[in-house]
Amino acid sequence: MPEDTPNPFTFDIQFGENITLSSYDNHIVRHLSNMRGQFLDSEAYQRMLDEDDRLLYEVYEIHRPEVPGELLHGISIVHPGKVGDEYYMTKGHFHTVLDTAEVYYCLRGRGFMVMENPQGNWSVEPLRPQSVLYVPPCWAHRTVNTSAEEDLVTFFVYPGDAGHDYGSIEKQGYRKLVVERDGTPAIVDNPRWLPPEKR
Ligand code: PA5
Ligand code: NI
Repeated sequence: MPEDTPNPFTFDIQFGENITLSSYDNHIVRHLSNMRGQFLDSEAYQRMLDEDDRLLYEVYEIHRPEVPGELLHGISIVHPGKVGDEYYMTKGHFHTVLDTAEVYYCLRGRGFMVMENPQGNWSVEPLRPQSVLYVPPCWAHRTVNTSAEEDLVTFFVYPGDAGHDYGSIEKQGYRKLVVERDGTPAIVDNPRWLPPEKR
């Protein structure tokens, strides 16, 4: 065993009005302005942005060395809201090391994980408290909060060297969108999406 092997540690997930971690290394915040081009209704996006650069989601992470044997982990909090009829969501990404997986455990809220792989196959899985979601290697993933008033809070774990590749899915977005239709969430086709052979 190498001499500089890290020491074990413990921390708490604190359940209060907000869910917080008793310790963390990074607090990442993403505002509406960080999501340009992600929501389908670009006019609704611009109208909202002109009013206020709202906070859409936050990540608290326990940073680990970027090596395959480590596990980076933390919580992701997507706040409730919509841009047009599309619910607030994370940017979403492939992992830079494409064949790395991720586990999510839902702590609070309601929503979906929208996923797709480089072949254009898609999957949308529900997230509700106590559900565990496995994102297999090679699947891009995005969290969507479909509640009108509650945060969607998930705990995630992925390999330390995985990294985030936002670029390859940013231009056309995901194959499926999660929007409100007649007061309930609906999974619909993204009109901007093109199959891999047409890109
Ligand atoms: O690695 C993950 O999948 C999560 O930690 C996400 O980074 C987090 O939910 C924020 O999403 P994104 O990185 O797509 O902005
Ligand atoms: Ni990820």
